[in-house]
Amino acid sequence: MRGLRERFPIFEHTTYANSCSQGALSVDVRRAYEEYLAGWDEHGAEWEHWVERAEAARAAFASLVSADPSEVAVTTSVSQAVSALVSALPLERGRAKIVISDLEFPTVGQIAHAQELRGAEVVHVLPEDDGTIPLERFAEAIDERTALVCCTAISYRTGYRLDVAEVARLARERGVLCLADSYQAAGAVPLDVGELGVDFLTAGTVKYLLASAGLAFMYVRSGLHEQLLPTQTGWFADEDVFRMDVSDYSPAHDARRFDSGTPPVPNIYAGLAGMGIVQEAGVEAIEAHVRGLVDELLAGLDELGATVVTPRGVGDHGPLVCVRSTDPEGLVAALRERAIVTSSRDQSVRISLHLYNTREDVERILAALGECRGLLA
Ligand SMILES: Cc1ncc(COP(=O)(O)O)c(C=O)c1O
Repeated sequence: MRGLRERFPIFEHTTYANSCSQGALSVDVRRAYEEYLAGWDEHGAEWEHWVERAEAARAAFASLVSADPSEVAVTTSVSQAVSALVSALPLERGRAKIVISDLEFPTVGQIAHAQELRGAEVVHVLPEDDGTIPLERFAEAIDERTALVCCTAISYRTGYRLDVAEVARLARERGVLCLADSYQAAGAVPLDVGELGVDFLTAGTVKYLLASAGLAFMYVRSGLHEQLLPTQTGWFADEDVFRMDVSDYSPAHDARRFDSGTPPVPNIYAGLAGMGIVQEAGVEAIEAHVRGLVDELLAGLDELGATVVTPRGVGDHGPLVCVRSTDPEGLVAALRERAIVTSSRDQSVRISLHLYNTREDVERILAALGECRGLLA
């Protein structure tokens, strides 16, 4: 990851370990925003160029997950993408069950439960006491009445990495569609939609894709496009955006039918720059680099006698480590006073590492936690 850290000015004064919440700002992303403003200033409405940028973002995300650009929707949030997706599920026709892991980001749970108004039944798959979810739990929950299974690739709450490929296999065997919300995984661990075997995969640019809020993507497996008719839609989802036809609904023939209104142009500039850094580093290299750091962090936490909430088994975690605290917000504040940025969820402090973090960062975090030992549970 040589040379990349220098492109993130925050490290001049701060140990940033909060990519699970927001990736650090790079000079590349700042420059991308400036480029957007300069183009707008110089040329006025650059619509052709802006639409081309949106297509470039679609293609960049497609390449990141080994999909075809025609299989990717560009949205402003995962919420918008998942809402459009469930609006296309014919829940009324007998398949009215939605199975979700209990570790989903709230938005997925809330959108699923909103479908109860359409007659859906939502079943939660619960983790064990050790934070893992055995596959049998999914197997028990998915049946012939199930329309959709949602599993989060890496939990924002615990850092647990689910075996998405196995959940997708269980779903496929039962003829059920499978969505993997991969927001906490994209840019941190390799994602190949073909290998995972999922029907849908969502992610956004705020975290390990190193950009800002307001841009997300949804992979939709080709072959499903024409059968799924989203009723949550917009003119950029139309088969011919610039026909400007006010009198009918003719969605695009590919995953673009899950787009919505005017694309989030400034965020697309930023997203392209952020994803560019991830591509430059290479996701496999990022994963290997971070795995080494996480191993050191876990070893140091054991020495401190800290309680790690994140499951420790091989393949059970990614870049996020959650540490139990008697006062998580107090501990985040105490670390902040020592120029270390983390965040809290439930009873844990979340420490997340990315391509720009180093062994020195890990040592600094461990030393600071040692000083705040009284706040570890
Ligand atoms: C797993 C996961 N899904 C979704 C989101 C956000 O969804 P949205 O883009 O709708 O805000 C986050 C984080 O904010 C997340 O961690």
